Amino acid sequence: MADKESSSPASLPRHVAMIMDGNGRWARRRFLPRFAGHKAGLETVRAMVRACLEKGIGTLTLFAFSSENWRRPPEEVGLLMNLFLTALECEVAKLNEYGVQLRVIGDRSAFSEELQARIAAAEALTAQNHALVLVIAANYGGRWDVSQAARKLAAAVQAGTLDPAAITSERLAAELSLADLPEPDLFIRTGGEQRISNFLLWQLAYTELYFTPILWPDFDAAAFAEALASFATRQRRFGRTGEQVEQASGA
Ligand code: IPE
Ligand code: IPE
Ligand code: MG
Repeated sequence: MADKESSSPASLPRHVAMIMDGNGRWARRRFLPRFAGHKAGLETVRAMVRACLEKGIGTLTLFAFSSENWRRPPEEVGLLMNLFLTALECEVAKLNEYGVQLRVIGDRSAFSEELQARIAAAEALTAQNHALVLVIAANYGGRWDVSQAARKLAAAVQAGTLDPAAITSERLAAELSLADLPEPDLFIRTGGEQRISNFLLWQLAYTELYFTPILWPDFDAAAFAEALASFATRQRRFGRTGEQVEQASGA
């Protein structure tokens, strides 16, 4: 617990989680098809990876496709899947060169065999890298994450290896997708909506939230720096009083 709460008020976040929203509106404003916005958004992904590497932020989690995004028109879903596939094809070698470890969280069983194979290959190639952990949430839902963790615990109980009384929040958290990483310190949603949209539900319990009207393809290093500056002004109390936190940090 102490380790998960060790970031001091003025420090950099160790883990930033982002909802990349506003691609469709960005495209419509330019009288372009929605997909043009998704394609343009890829450049922002590159910029965020570069920024995290430069600043020494250890983990970046990006919400690329939610478990509810299957409800979109099939054509858009197909184009998004293709974009994911080609992005993996084109970017992984460079990510590996930069020392980025790539991970994909979400229910990947719904993806094509080809995409699943490419994800597995990218993860295997970059598994030993430590400059930045880049987590792509694809066919991810926070409710799915908690349910799959509960399913694993239930199986262990059924197998007789787990006592139901031993199911604590720590034990359940250990089965969640990002169990081995620090919880997100900073959450950023672009595109103006102020909601979580079934992103990391459990993990965001004490994350600092930041919403910006900037559409994802327009979000850049300067806008990210503003979010980081906002984060640096926040006092994270984790249930304690402000005085306790000041005393503990020696202020
Ligand atoms: C986010 O942009 C990307 C995905 C959900 C895949 P949107 O496509 O949701 O863009 P808006 O919200 O319609 O502008
Ligand atoms: C959330 O954006 C999911 C991703 C960015 C991948 P949406 O655009 O799908 O969210 P809602 O539907 O507006 O809440
Ligand atoms: Mg949207």
